[in-house]
Amino acid sequence: MISGKPSLLEWSVNHSQPADVGALFAQHAHEFAYYGSGKAAFRDGLRTLQRLEQGRRDGSVLLPAYIPDAVLEPVTDCGLEPRLYELTDSLAPNMAALESRIDDSTLAVVSVNYFGFSQPAFDAIDQLASRNGCYHLEDNAHGALSVVDGRLLGTRTGVGFSSLWKLLPAPDGAVLLCNDEAVASAYEPSSITGVHDRVRTQDLQFALKSLASDLLDTSHRLKSSVHSLVTTGDAGTSTASPAQRYRAGKDRMSRLSAYVVADADPAAIRHRRRENYRAWRSVFEGHDAVTPLFDELPHGVCPQVFPVRTSVPGQLERVLADCGVDGAHTWPRLSSTVRQDDTYATATKLAAEVVVLPVHQQTDPETITSAGLEVVSRLP
Ligand SMILES: Cc1ncc(COP(=O)(O)O)c(C=O)c1O
Repeated sequence: MISGKPSLLEWSVNHSQPADVGALFAQHAHEFAYYGSGKAAFRDGLRTLQRLEQGRRDGSVLLPAYIPDAVLEPVTDCGLEPRLYELTDSLAPNMAALESRIDDSTLAVVSVNYFGFSQPAFDAIDQLASRNGCYHLEDNAHGALSVVDGRLLGTRTGVGFSSLWKLLPAPDGAVLLCNDEAVASAYEPSSITGVHDRVRTQDLQFALKSLASDLLDTSHRLKSSVHSLVTTGDAGTSTASPAQRYRAGKDRMSRLSAYVVADADPAAIRHRRRENYRAWRSVFEGHDAVTPLFDELPHGVCPQVFPVRTSVPGQLERVLADCGVDGAHTWPRLSSTVRQDDTYATATKLAAEVVVLPVHQQTDPETITSAGLEVVSRLP
């Protein structure tokens, strides 16, 4: 059985390393601040850039079309226009399309380090942004612990942000990274910056859900009923609108997440996730219908998931679930603007064909290999 997310119970039993995620941010960023979600950190990052520009470039923010729908919400919340650009199959922007979207009032171009891997056109986007007098903002929601060429992803542009809950057994959490002096001096904490000072009901709900998941791992049906019971009314459910999901995350980080972050060991997490990634890669080697999205696993990358591209996404998801692999799904939920516009055909195709598989630190290569071989034997 491979769960979709790392477990809080497992963490509480096994952790032994000193606090170090904060030290990693302190080492690589000029200044950093915790938030409840990546979207909340993104909002305050944009507000910082607006403060720096003093209203001079209060028009648009450019984002890749291949992005979850709710990530557009912080942009509109800041009174800015989210403007989308199309990608190529390699997840780099279509540079001509991107450049044609920039104008004199563009505040920032957002680039994404997908699944914890460095954005392949990072340098070209950086040059394009500075040629056009706007900021480059690194969306590192997936790669909080990836260090590439000695740089922590999320710290390579003036402002960046990373989600923490995507890598840790935590209910929420993200970090805003201010990476130069000008940005750090313009940054002002807001009412959603920092950590809640008390443990709240939501923290206990998450702990209960995590505990229930662990105890019920042996029974799929029971597990999904308990899951839907404890998540009822939660803005994280599939029926919540992008605006509702944004509002739910527009908050400080929970005390429970702060405990988990303080005890996480970045090097150990990175090491295990890389081993797990390689195990999945071996499982699907030479498979026609399922191919890894990335050819290489560069040194220092801490993968969020093992993303594959497949001609049989629905079948792959079903077979994985039948073989005890939880949490595999297509990514992401696109906004209707993207889905309804042929300009974004590549983003729409990627969203239909990319399936992400768990590599979290509480599973291991042997478990993945044994489940994976079963999966492969049941695929066409
Ligand atoms: C590329 C990207 N950016 C930003 C976010 C927002 O992060 P969070 O869910 O922590 O608000 C996500 C969330 O999935 C994401 O995938």
